[in-house]
Amino acid sequence: MPARVLFSTPQIEARIRELGREISRDYAKAENLHLICVLKGAFMFLADLVRTLQVPVTLDFMALSSYATGTTSSGEVRLLKDLDTALAGRDVLIVEDIVDTGLTLNYLREILMARGPRSVRTACLLSKPSRRKVDVRVEYIGFTIEDHFVVGYGLDYEGRYRSLPHIAIVDED
Ligand code: IMP
Ligand code: MG
Repeated sequence: MPARVLFSTPQIEARIRELGREISRDYAKAENLHLICVLKGAFMFLADLVRTLQVPVTLDFMALSSYATGTTSSGEVRLLKDLDTALAGRDVLIVEDIVDTGLTLNYLREILMARGPRSVRTACLLSKPSRRKVDVRVEYIGFTIEDHFVVGYGLDYEGRYRSLPHIAIVDED
């Protein structure tokens, strides 16, 4: 079903190397950069991004669900798996697959900031600004895209296509 390749594997790799350089530069003096991977969609982005970083990092994983059915998000967010470790005093970098309405990231930033980290920033592979319902801050964006439903490289449509090594647009009819 995924019809058209939007970003090829080499395009994704090149962009992630750039993000890695930028993040490494920005956190050169940080003592504990702590990456938080938002499952499941960001697993591949996290795995590739973390290998480009030139600074020491620690990692943790969190799972959220936005009660989505098909390609529409309901706006309600549920915490499915919490972090294993505390955030107090840490420089936290949220690693997300895609920011669409912004509701998920907005909720996540709020619950993480309440835990007393030193800083919280976000890296997302994809952003669909035309779909925003809340104006949430995203410091590192891989690619800004139009309003398409995309799959691959971790992103799914009803659980499928996460394993594709590229990003493709789902045929909407
Ligand atoms: P939100 O609307 O910004 O809260 O987006 C929440 C979540 O919806 C993202 O983290 C993705 O898991 C999912 N999502 C949004 N747009 C897409 C898409 O184009 N493909 C696959 N998943 C998406
Ligand atoms: Mg997600």
